[in-house]
Amino acid sequence: MSHKIAPSILAADFGNLQRDCEMVNNSQADWFHLDVMDGVFVPNISFGMPIIKNINSYAKKTLDVHLMIVNPDKFIKSFKEIGADVLTVHYEVCDHLHRTLSAIKQEGMKAGVALNPHTSVHLLSDVLNDLDLVCIMSVNPGFGGQSFIENTYKKVKELAHLREISNANFLIEIDGGVSTANARKLLDAGADVLVAGSFVFKSENPVQTIADLKAV
Ligand code: DX5
Ligand code: ZN
Repeated sequence: MSHKIAPSILAADFGNLQRDCEMVNNSQADWFHLDVMDGVFVPNISFGMPIIKNINSYAKKTLDVHLMIVNPDKFIKSFKEIGADVLTVHYEVCDHLHRTLSAIKQEGMKAGVALNPHTSVHLLSDVLNDLDLVCIMSVNPGFGGQSFIENTYKKVKELAHLREISNANFLIEIDGGVSTANARKLLDAGADVLVAGSFVFKSENPVQTIADLKAV
């Protein structure tokens, strides 16, 4: 299976969302990555339901929703209703992670968990077979355009090893500071999905940049 590219809409032009969604539709991108921030779990507020509903009306690809919010359980149903296909919650905010993952799957979505840079992949060892996706944060969540944290390669390798020995089959997604400079090394370490925000949207030719990431 070739790797997936998920442009992060956080870096798009919000005054031209339809145009930017169509750019993603017409590119080799696989997913739309949508970052929801609440100003509590992370020190920033991004966008919520009305914007995602709007994106869903234009987007022709999988909606990968990354919740950087406290109490994600409260909103699982709402995200399903507005079109989320993959719903990822943060490990750090879930007291009952197994219950949350089950509730996401119950709604017919793929269930993901995201790990902050300081959170060990080993903390997932008892839910490896309940996961559809693990998002390894390669920056501290909250903002686009930050520098990639080098320790990520080690975490991806460790997680890929855990996946192998437990016969699990979740996808490993990398989020933050991804570019063609680190994509090959991430894929070699075991990554399956590369999220890229600024590298795509701030480039001169986003469609070509997505193709470049896909061709790595
Ligand atoms: C960070 C978000 C990322 C962000 C990635 O909190 O979860 O998805 O949009 O942006 P870049 O690729 O610019 O680091
Ligand atoms: Zn994200």
